Amino acid sequence: MRKKIIAGNWKMNIKPGETAALVKAVAEATKDAAGIVDVVCCTPAIDIPAAVAAAAGTHVKIGAENAHWAESGAYTGEISTAMLADAGVEYVIIGHSERRQYFGESDETVNKRARAVIAAGLTAIVCIGETLEEREAGKLEEVIERQMNVGLKDISSTDAAKLVIAYEPVWAIGTGKTATPDQAQEVHALIRATLAKLVGAETAETVRIQYGGSMKASNAAELLAKKDIDGGLIGGAALKADTFAPIVAAAK
Ligand code: PGA
Repeated sequence: MRKKIIAGNWKMNIKPGETAALVKAVAEATKDAAGIVDVVCCTPAIDIPAAVAAAAGTHVKIGAENAHWAESGAYTGEISTAMLADAGVEYVIIGHSERRQYFGESDETVNKRARAVIAAGLTAIVCIGETLEEREAGKLEEVIERQMNVGLKDISSTDAAKLVIAYEPVWAIGTGKTATPDQAQEVHALIRATLAKLVGAETAETVRIQYGGSMKASNAAELLAKKDIDGGLIGGAALKADTFAPIVAAAK
């Protein structure tokens, strides 16, 4: 049995001064899920200290939204996995489609970042997913396989214990359009089969695969009921405890 994981991706929302209140509200509203569902808030880097302090003593874990692959050095504006670990972060989102679209993220840099996150003892949430154009051109399988073969290169079956994959069809992110549960399950099964080739079938069965893209209270239960859907990566609905908590409840 894979433990479900519901992670909020705050993106570039929520100021440092607003952070503690949201984390505490999430902890309170999801306390029944403690020990049953992994509940994570991935916050902007500048919010991390406040988020970690507010989550202390609760079941809520804190994540970051990106990390550089170098341990330290002359990379102005960047944040290393060692810094994140030192700050109390446990999860790091890597390769979100917005980073691929706006900040030049490639499958190669996803791989470097994911390996650095895992080497630092943190869990990498590696995002993959096709655009509408790619889906309509019949390239879904090709895109997913490429993103995984390159993005997860040299990640061993031992490393896979520190890996979560988020399937986020780009056309469903922030658009209100959700993949149907069957559409999502089909891709999740493909992801698990591709993962089996990379890390072995037995390990692939243990890796959690989240769905992301307009997941909300009204569609979470039917998505999470699917065999290979092990959680959610939540954008818009993660910005308020009362829209996030019902998704966590659906994962119970
Ligand atoms: P959304 O974002 O829930 O607002 O669609 C999901 C994500 O981008 O992680």
